[in-house]
Amino acid sequence: MINDLWYKNSVVYCLSIETFMDANGDGVGDLHGLARRLDYLAGLGITAIWLMPFQTSPGRDDGYDVSDYYNVDPRYGTLGDFVEFTHGAKQRGIRVLIDLVVNHTSDQHPWFQEARRDEGSRFRDWYVWSKQKPANANEGMVFPGVQTSTWTYDKEAKAYYFHRFYDFQPDLDTANPHVQAEILKIMGFWIQLGVSGFRMDAVPFVIAEKGADVKKPRERFEMLRSFREFLQWRKGDSIILAEANVLPETDMDYFGEDDDRMQMMFNFQVNQTLFYALASANCRPLEKALEATRTRPETAQWGLFLRNHDELDLGRLSEGQRSAVFAAFGPDKDMQLYDRGIRRRLAPMLEGNGARIRMAYSLMFSLPGTPVLRYGDEIGMGDDLSLAERNCARTPMQWSTEPQAGFTKSATPILPVITGGAYGFEHINVADQRRNPDSMLNWMERLIRMRKEAPEIGWGDYSCVETGQQGVLAIRYDWRNNSILIVHNLMREPVEAEIDPGIGENGQLLIDIADGSNSKAGKDGKHCVFLEGFGYKWYRIGGLDYLLRRSDI
Ligand code: GLC
Repeated sequence: MINDLWYKNSVVYCLSIETFMDANGDGVGDLHGLARRLDYLAGLGITAIWLMPFQTSPGRDDGYDVSDYYNVDPRYGTLGDFVEFTHGAKQRGIRVLIDLVVNHTSDQHPWFQEARRDEGSRFRDWYVWSKQKPANANEGMVFPGVQTSTWTYDKEAKAYYFHRFYDFQPDLDTANPHVQAEILKIMGFWIQLGVSGFRMDAVPFVIAEKGADVKKPRERFEMLRSFREFLQWRKGDSIILAEANVLPETDMDYFGEDDDRMQMMFNFQVNQTLFYALASANCRPLEKALEATRTRPETAQWGLFLRNHDELDLGRLSEGQRSAVFAAFGPDKDMQLYDRGIRRRLAPMLEGNGARIRMAYSLMFSLPGTPVLRYGDEIGMGDDLSLAERNCARTPMQWSTEPQAGFTKSATPILPVITGGAYGFEHINVADQRRNPDSMLNWMERLIRMRKEAPEIGWGDYSCVETGQQGVLAIRYDWRNNSILIVHNLMREPVEAEIDPGIGENGQLLIDIADGSNSKAGKDGKHCVFLEGFGYKWYRIGGLDYLLRRSDI
């Protein structure tokens, strides 16, 4: 069971083929390039790759507008290359998750083309139509400020079609049994080609009722069970990681009371309060968010992240909290997006402060769940705010000081490489950091190793331990007679925190697994832990050698 539920203690690395490594020199990253970088990823220690959409697509939403679910976009390679890649990953013990974007298709998808042309087509009912303009056509846009409606008139179809996202992404009518069968078929196809599961895009919208007369869309949670059931029949250890930015009250509807729906979900609640904690050095709301998202079935797991390929959505914070995060990390209008978020990468948000950036990752890695890193984060890449919308944080990977950061031999990469300034490839690149033992890259490798050696985080029970300081978070995990205590100081100033790990005699000695500065309890059983500004400690509780203790597995 422990080894079977691989995703409980995985470290996931998310990347886009397009901007990772270009092997054929046409300016666009490809599967060959990625395959050549598998040893780099294996060396970093990650255990799973999440590939952003790479299927055939006009590419108007970075591949989230698919026009053929059963092919690789020719710019990235072929299906054969894909299988070579998943095989190569497997040889190195790395699993592959891929994006599954089935809430909508591209408007160029042959299904939509046929549906709009012919009212009698069998594909007509695969989409959501209305002869009249629905009253709520100007509501529920996911990209406010860029998208102006959720229903658009199509001259050819002589009807309005529904699109939750951009107007070139018509929603599939997921209530239609033919569409549901097709979704399973798509999953079955990629599973057969070697993937271990899916990051399912926009899950709340996939399962929502759709239609012109739907006022308050109900979610059809039963669908989630059918997805999981299908996958488990086809390949027992495959999973779905759901993108569902929902309120904690509904988490269990997604995981399933009977542990029978999504195995993983991104924890957006914790993500947003984590940024608030970083901005305000107040950990209390983060503790509350951890508590609110504590309940989950035994086989379920949270996906944790700092930044991803989208904007940092702050929509779930209170007004006051949101303004604090904007003020600290995205004060300028062009750093913000869709009236609710920040579009920057993490390193520039934290002003390039190395100690603070490392503390933020260490904190994310120490929270209950599976960490998901974004490519380039391991070297502290920056953003290019001159690029539109979310593209600012999707620039090519910076490999070396060669032209175009060693990403491509072409002079015209698909997106411009960050050049010059503090985050330019001349300063921030893999080759330089590889040689420097104190670099972010080598630090990240050590963090990943430390997280993998602490399975308590993925499996154990946790509790927040009192530190007497609003700016210090201490979290303890217990699992199979092993306990660890992880402490983070979110403040700029050094601090001495009084901590009682709360397990009597066993808590007398704290073994520092990060840098070897152990702590002995005072007479009152409490530890006086000194933390530098933005400092952190990972302790194993008790004096026994932990490898011996783990022999009970
Ligand atoms: C998800 C993706 C985002 C995409 C959208 C539409 O929110 O994360 O990048 O634009 O779905 O597919």
